[in-house]
Amino acid sequence: MKYKFKVSAIALAMMASSAAIAAENLKIGLILPLSGPFAAYGKQIKNGVDLYLKQKGDVFGGRKVELVIKDDAGTQPELSKRDAQELVVKDNVDILAGFGLTPAALAVAPVATEAKKPMVIMNAATSVITTKSPYIVRTSHTLPQLTAPIASWALKNNIKKVYTLVADYGPGIDSEKQFQKTFTAGGGQITGEVRVPLKNPDFSPFLQKIKDAKPEAVFLFLPPGELTIGFLKGYQERELAKAGIKIIATGDLTDDDTIEALGDASLGIITSGHYSMVHKSPENKAYTEAYAKAYPKDRPNFMSVAGYDGMNLIAEVLKKTGGDANAEKFVEAAKGLKWTSPRGAISIDPATRDVVQTVYIRKVEKVGGKLANVEFDDSQKDVKDPGKE
Ligand code: PHB
Repeated sequence: MKYKFKVSAIALAMMASSAAIAAENLKIGLILPLSGPFAAYGKQIKNGVDLYLKQKGDVFGGRKVELVIKDDAGTQPELSKRDAQELVVKDNVDILAGFGLTPAALAVAPVATEAKKPMVIMNAATSVITTKSPYIVRTSHTLPQLTAPIASWALKNNIKKVYTLVADYGPGIDSEKQFQKTFTAGGGQITGEVRVPLKNPDFSPFLQKIKDAKPEAVFLFLPPGELTIGFLKGYQERELAKAGIKIIATGDLTDDDTIEALGDASLGIITSGHYSMVHKSPENKAYTEAYAKAYPKDRPNFMSVAGYDGMNLIAEVLKKTGGDANAEKFVEAAKGLKWTSPRGAISIDPATRDVVQTVYIRKVEKVGGKLANVEFDDSQKDVKDPGKE
């Protein structure tokens, strides 16, 4: 009798403690650039995150989601790192997420490893990021993943001489390397290359050099915002199009959120990208309609969709683990997950924890009076990140 009582007391205590875990909020620490020159990135990612919670509900694996938001102002890695440390130590978050730019993700990776927290990347796109902690999973893209398809497209479309111009940091260097690798392997020739500073570059001397080198096209990676707008303005002023020099780029150049600021100069530009606001699918129709209702002044872009998909990843993982956000279990459950995103079919590569997706070739056109990236080639499906090969 005594023994029996003991067992049931233990069982009761165990039940009580697991009920306490289940009832605890699921705290997600979001580190985003919400001020400074890249504030639009943070806004877009947060729009996607909030829209997911509004549409699908805010209980994941039995736990109510609580967001703790930190502004890292973009490219100040010390600030991103301090934010992550505070989120872990003071706020006791279960998961770290967000990350607009590569330096922020790289600065936080060791914190995730040490604190054993899952880290979900919703934009930062340098290939190497996922190798910097075993607990990182990415729902955005990588630059090599977008770049190899546009290099192949150029070769097939009789573009044989290209000058590369990229922003001088992780994603730019990744895209420069991948473009040159794929393009020269297919018989293309690089007529010149330049890396421009991330802060306030003066494009005029570079544009003149490109004009003098007479390539058939210039390949670009620039993060959306001041740089893309500045480049296109200079390209027009120096009349590179008239000199027969086309632009090919990753979709970052003609990002749906900044495309109107590029203006009609962007018409006809060919890019490779994983998401377009005018992607034709029932999932994207539902997503863009809900987005327009929730944020009538904004346009959905590839960053908001990665925020939205990042939340879906967390929701699906927590469903599988029964609400347990333990980093090892989180990553195991994330590996191989597949779902239909507004961008199309995506999955998490079990080998790299990076997203696998279709990379579309698109052309800027007017759709309903608005500039948009119209997808015309979806033949490059299930593209993995080639950057770690
Ligand atoms: C990055 O810093 O990793 C980054 C920023 C903007 C992009 C893509 C990547 O459009």
